[in-house]
Amino acid sequence: MQHTNYDIADITLAEEGALRVEWAEAQMPVLASIREQFEHDKPLEGQRIAACLHVTTETANLMRTLVAGGAEVSLCASNPLSTQDDVAAWLVDRLGIGTFAIHGEDRDTYYSHIHSVLEIKPTITIDDGADVISTLHAERQELIPGIIGGMEETTTGVIRLRAMAQDGALKYPLIAVNDANTKHLFDNHYGTGQSTIDGILRATNILLAGRDFVVCGYGQCGRGVARRAAGMGASVIVCEVDPLRALQAALDGYRVMPIAEAARVGQVFVTVTGDMAVIRREHFELMQDGAIVCNSGHFDVEISLSDLQDMAGAPRRIRHATDEYTLQDGRRIFVLGEGRLVNLAAAEGHPAAVMDMSFANQALCSRWVAENPNLPVAVHPVPPEIDQQVALLKLTSMNMAIDQLTAEQAEYLSSWQMGT
Ligand code: ADE
Repeated sequence: MQHTNYDIADITLAEEGALRVEWAEAQMPVLASIREQFEHDKPLEGQRIAACLHVTTETANLMRTLVAGGAEVSLCASNPLSTQDDVAAWLVDRLGIGTFAIHGEDRDTYYSHIHSVLEIKPTITIDDGADVISTLHAERQELIPGIIGGMEETTTGVIRLRAMAQDGALKYPLIAVNDANTKHLFDNHYGTGQSTIDGILRATNILLAGRDFVVCGYGQCGRGVARRAAGMGASVIVCEVDPLRALQAALDGYRVMPIAEAARVGQVFVTVTGDMAVIRREHFELMQDGAIVCNSGHFDVEISLSDLQDMAGAPRRIRHATDEYTLQDGRRIFVLGEGRLVNLAAAEGHPAAVMDMSFANQALCSRWVAENPNLPVAVHPVPPEIDQQVALLKLTSMNMAIDQLTAEQAEYLSSWQMGT
């Protein structure tokens, strides 16, 4: 395979990557069926795709699908700690795509890699967190006329895009992949739920049963985390700012209280709010010795690590992805994954079976954008037929069939005259 321009940690890891990519592939039957179709139809011929995603085995299978569809692709990381270096090596060595991602890269390298993927002069972008989109709008506007559209993977990114559209700053059409039902109802809930617990356990190996486990934020992700923690026997406390969500948490059986109260009783804290400074100095001051704090929201802004560093100085790395901060009075607070996404920093991210649906949406939306090159500049929903198709393909891959309405039932649902 011809090597293109790239910047990765170690190309000799490609063989290791190959086995892991193959393992994920077996869990991604929907994406595999789309890949087969793409190989035949070549719907992405002539497209150049710049992608900024977590560089994982699941992403590698998406990249294969885009390449099978005829696209030229370049990829950088959407988080400095989520890159799997063996996968990056596989992408360069076996797929021959320009990959710019090194696990643990510093901030400057992270942004220089975003600029590197743009060298492809994209016609389509794929983002997880909108960093490529915002770099294009702020620094590389000359590339925008060549872009027909893009996709955004995550809640935080979609919020950023809607703010840009509201300000009149958005300059090309974007699809909010996150908002597809087959994405957020599964990836955000079951994916974040399981992989967050996985990250906490790989980093700490603690027993969750019997622990006071605080979840800040009760959106799709927070609900998933709370449910899985409760399933492991933890005693879950939810902190929310939205009364409706707080009420749902209460009726789901969790204790609900403000973070200032939860800080005193919690033993494990997970932030999943999408907002900044959720856990800060005033909360660290109240925490018990041994409290474990981590984040599963997109950006590393939810835990104020600068406050903790002010209070405790530099941390000691006590285990993989686990930093111990010792306060003046001797209390220790453990921060996982440097406050970045704990599921990707300390574990491998969402399981492939759930990314199958998220990335099936990405692949089918890439084709939709290629087939509709003149979309209006706006944040578009995923076309409902794509969402339905992904759900059906996933069910079929699970060997499950569903019922169909009889003609009489369909008529009943569309009639306002028929009652009891
Ligand atoms: N986001 C969360 N988990 C992921 C994974 N395994 N691959 C790519 N993006 C992800």
